[in-house]
Amino acid sequence: MYDKTISSAVIKRLPRYYRYLGELLENDVVRISSKELSEKMNVTASQIRQDLNNFGGFGQQGYGYNVEYLYTEIGKILGLDKKYNVIIIGAGNLGQALANYTDFERRGFYICGIFDVNPRLIGISIRGIEIRLIDELEEFMKTNTVNIAALTIPKAKAPQVAADLVSLGIHAIWNFAPTDLNLPKDVMVENVHLAESLMRLSYNLKAAEESGESI
Ligand code: NAI
Repeated sequence: MYDKTISSAVIKRLPRYYRYLGELLENDVVRISSKELSEKMNVTASQIRQDLNNFGGFGQQGYGYNVEYLYTEIGKILGLDKKYNVIIIGAGNLGQALANYTDFERRGFYICGIFDVNPRLIGISIRGIEIRLIDELEEFMKTNTVNIAALTIPKAKAPQVAADLVSLGIHAIWNFAPTDLNLPKDVMVENVHLAESLMRLSYNLKAAEESGESI
């Protein structure tokens, strides 16, 4: 078994390896050297070797990496060989967009319920899943296994709703509301903030402008 204390920087890079390897597989590439992979991914070959050594390597001297094997193993490390049931709390613009995205299922994430407080949304079906009233969530949790809750509600509501989700047994929250959730340590929260990503882009644009680079 691999070391559990792998740095979060490495963990953050794994989905990107997974994506590239998936593309190679789709193109029937059987094996790849760390050098070739590094050219494709624009990271150094030694970074790739170092990253993958955290999990016992997977490569063979003089052969490189077996693409399918590496893809499968990284998938296992990321827990993608399992199936996760996801509920979406907040069926507004973002909640509906997430529910409409079919590719999550390919990765093992299945939307099994969508909840909202707005009675006008109740009964509307998104890809076969009816939006339910949030009051039904407690009952739903008793009869369904739910692994992850996506939070796509206004920021003012998010802390309380997150706490309610935890008391109903949720341990993993995919938080889109632009606020920090202070939850017990055993609850995993993954924050997704597109605006923060845009701010990094604006920082880079500004830095390039100031250094006189043409953009
Ligand atoms: P929206 O107003 O279209 O949808 C919010 C939905 O949440 C509404 O349908 C509303 O009825 C429902 N809602 C409100 N209180 C609720 C509760 N207690 N329980 C269940 N449902 C409840 O808003 P939009 O555009 O979909 O944004 C949703 C959230 O996502 C906001 O907090 C927004 O700031 C955030 N957001 C985050 C992004 C990111 O990158 N993380 C990008 C876009 C939006």
